[in-house]
This record gives sequence, C-alpha cells and structure tokens, in this order.
Amino acid sequence: MAEKQSAKLILPGGKESSLPVIVGTEDEHAVDIRSLRQETGYITLDSGYMNTGATTSAITYLDGEQGILRYRGYPIEELAEKSDFVETSYLLINGKLPTKDERKTFSTALTRHSLIHEDMQHFFHGYPPTSHPMAVLSAMVTSLSAYYPDSLDRNSAIDLHITRILSKVRTIAAFAYKKSIGQPIMYPKNSLKYCANFLHMMFAVPSEEYVVSPVLERAVNQLLILHADHEQNCSTSTVRMVGSSGANLYASVAAGILALWGPLHGGANQAVIEMLEEIKTSGADYKKFLEDVKNKRDNRRLMGFGHRVYKNFDPRAKILKKMCDEVLSHLGVKDPLLDIAKSMEEIALKDDYFVSKKLYPNVDFYSGIIYRALGIPTNMFTVMFALGRLPGWIAHWKEMVEDPQTKIGRPRQIYTGEKVRHYVPIDER
Ligand code: CMC
Repeated sequence: MAEKQSAKLILPGGKESSLPVIVGTEDEHAVDIRSLRQETGYITLDSGYMNTGATTSAITYLDGEQGILRYRGYPIEELAEKSDFVETSYLLINGKLPTKDERKTFSTALTRHSLIHEDMQHFFHGYPPTSHPMAVLSAMVTSLSAYYPDSLDRNSAIDLHITRILSKVRTIAAFAYKKSIGQPIMYPKNSLKYCANFLHMMFAVPSEEYVVSPVLERAVNQLLILHADHEQNCSTSTVRMVGSSGANLYASVAAGILALWGPLHGGANQAVIEMLEEIKTSGADYKKFLEDVKNKRDNRRLMGFGHRVYKNFDPRAKILKKMCDEVLSHLGVKDPLLDIAKSMEEIALKDDYFVSKKLYPNVDFYSGIIYRALGIPTNMFTVMFALGRLPGWIAHWKEMVEDPQTKIGRPRQIYTGEKVRHYVPIDER
C-alpha cells in the first residue's frame, strides 16, 4: 500500500486541506479523510457507503467495471473449477493455499468439531415448525458463544473458534432444516468430506442408506466457493462493525447472518424463485412483469439483477448460468422456472432500462434454480448463502482483530432535527 501523493480539498471560505492518497496493490486510489474533521471541522457524507472505503483489506479483489473477482489473488473462475470449499476457506482465512499436511490438519479439525453440544438440540424444539431457518441459524450461532465462553476473551485461541464455527454452522444449518420438516436430525459422519457430510445431514433418513451423489457434492462445493467472499458487502461490513466493538466471533458472525437475510442482499436468492413462481402461476407473462419493473409498479424489482459494485457482468453469475445447465441436464431435471429466467435475462440484457442502469444478473439469479434441482427447499437458499459466506466473514473478522490500527466502527452524521428547545411541563403545553 503506497502513500506518496496527496489531494487538495478547498472548502467554502477558501480554507485548504491536504489529504494523503492511498494506492492499493491493484492501483485503486483513495483519499484518506481521517484527519479532515480534526483539521477543518468538516465531515464527509455518504449514505449507503456508495463511495467510502471502510478499511484496507488483503482478502478479496473486486473490479466491478471489469467483472473481476479474486480471492487472495486467485481468480474465482480457477477456484470454482479446481479447488474445493475447504481449501478455499483455508485460503481466505490464512492467506495462502494449504500444503498437503496443512490441508489434512485443517480437514481433520473440521471433522472433529462437527458436533454441536447435545443440549443445544433442545433449542431447535422450541421453535415453531414454520420458523424461517435463518432465524434459527442466527440464534444458534449466537448460542455457540454461550457454550464456548472462552470466546469472550479476545486473547483466546482464535484458530480453535474458527474451526468450530466453520464446522458447526454446517451442522446447525442441516439440523434447522430437519427440524422444519419434522424429521429426526442426522448426526455428522466423520468418514465424509465437508460438503458430502452436509448433504448427508440434510437428506439422509435413519431408515435408509444414503449415498452422496458426487455430482451434488461437486455442485455444493462450487456454489459455496462462489459465495465465499465478496469484500465489504452489507453482511461482511456488519461482521466487521460488530467485531470492532470487541464482540466475539460467534456474535459477530450471527450479526452477519442477520444482515444477509434481507432480500436486497442474500435473501435475494429466495426472492428470485418466489418472483419466478409468481410469474409462472399467473400465466408466465414475464414480459408484463418486466414492464411493471420498468414502470416501478409497486416498487417491483427484477430480483437477481443489479449490484452495487458490478456494472458489468457478475463473474459468479456467468459461472452459475453454465453450471445451472450442466447440473439440471445431469440430474435430468426440467425446470420451467429456468426457461422463464433465461427469457427474462435475454430481454433485460437488450432493454434500455436495464442497459442504461447497468443492471446485469447477479449471483442470486441462477443459484436458486440449482438449489431447487439439488432438492434444497426455497427457505434454505439464504442459509446456503450464509454457509458459503462463512469463511469470508471469518477472514474479515480475523483480519480486523489482528490489525493494530483497528478502531471501533463509529460513523458520524449531519444532524437535521430541532435546535435546542426547553422542556415544558405537560399541563402547560
Ligand atoms: N430491478 C429494477 N430496477 C433496479 C434493480 C432491479 N433489480 N436494481 C436497481 N434498479 C434501479 C433502481 O430502481 C434505480 O433506478 P432509478 O435511478 O431510476 O431510481 C437504479 O437502478 C439504481 O438502483 P439502486 O437501488 O440505487 O442501486 P444500489 O446499488 O443501491 O442497489 C441492489 C443494488 C443489489 C440492492 C439493487 O440492484 C437491487 O435491489 N437488486 C435486486 C435485489 C438483488 O438481486 N440483490 C442481490 C445482490 S447480489 C448478492 C449480494 O452480494 O448481496
């Protein structure tokens, strides 16, 4: 990170401020305004953080104009094709690909920590069967900090908590699903790899032998890799913000899960399928739906389209579209929702409304159709996103706590309320 140049800001009244310019390894430039208020009394205002860097980070590089996404320097396309989720998680968290020995140690630790405390199972029974699994997941992840109270001490073994959370969230996610459909939970099987074990806990039943399909296992690996990190998005920023107060890893990740749940973020994968279902049920008039979106009727949006940072194709969506065709054809699934989605995409990519606003399919447009084909129910889609994003949240939390420059996240504001006024007793008002 270079810091050689500076920028000059001229404020009303002619007062000047010289601000350092920071340059990242990919030649990204930032004006460092940290000293601005102290020197001039001015703050900067940027609602929605449209143009504000909250941190420097060495984890993920994203160029929204070029459609580039790299984890620790490795292109997402290469990782999705050649790596698996455990290796990619190691890479994100530790900054390098593991050697064979490191990989073995990491995998063994993940296997060892896959159970949750038996008492935690009672919690699942307390939820109504209609509970959204994201509500259950976030509560359970917070509860982990009650079972590992040493996590409250910032100096406790971070690596152990990282392994625990990475392994146990998978178990909790599958248990939440089993609870929601009224089936007995399936314990993890130590002989299975991370994603195969997840599928086993989701789909096995005690009365039958369940053999994990290698096609499903590969697809889940790829889906999770594609979701594994996306730099300072809403949920990751939340994890960093909560963690900056000194909150433990479990609490910080639970907050990230809740931020992910919203339909503008990770909840979009569920919203896409609900949108496509609605179009299909009402006669598959997707052209009319697109017209309604363009006219902003009832504030409709084409879910799964648009992104704050991608102003070109989302590279993850490209991979997912191809994967969607491959997985569905391999499983022999014919999904009318895929036909509707493709037709809508074709029209939108030529339509001036979407073209002029640079709205392209994002990661959520096709992922739901793949999850459906894999037999994962719609209300579990965002849980899948959370499972995938977990190593990213962990990597950012770790980077933040290990950075001596970290300060508590505390934005400022411009106050627009009443000027001072004085209290009048109720009888005199
Ligand atoms: N359909 C129709 N119009 C849209 C859409 C959309 N999906 N997305 C943005 N627009 C319009 C929006 O109405 C606005 O128009 P105008 O300038 O006329 O007011 C303009 O494009 C800019 O939109 P914005 O909401 O100011 O853009 P943003 O950067 O704040 O929002 C977004 C980004 C992802 C929230 C938004 O594109 C959206 O709501 N997309 C649909 C939900 C979705 O798919 N979310 C998943 C994102 S990918 C997963 C993740 O990383 O979170």
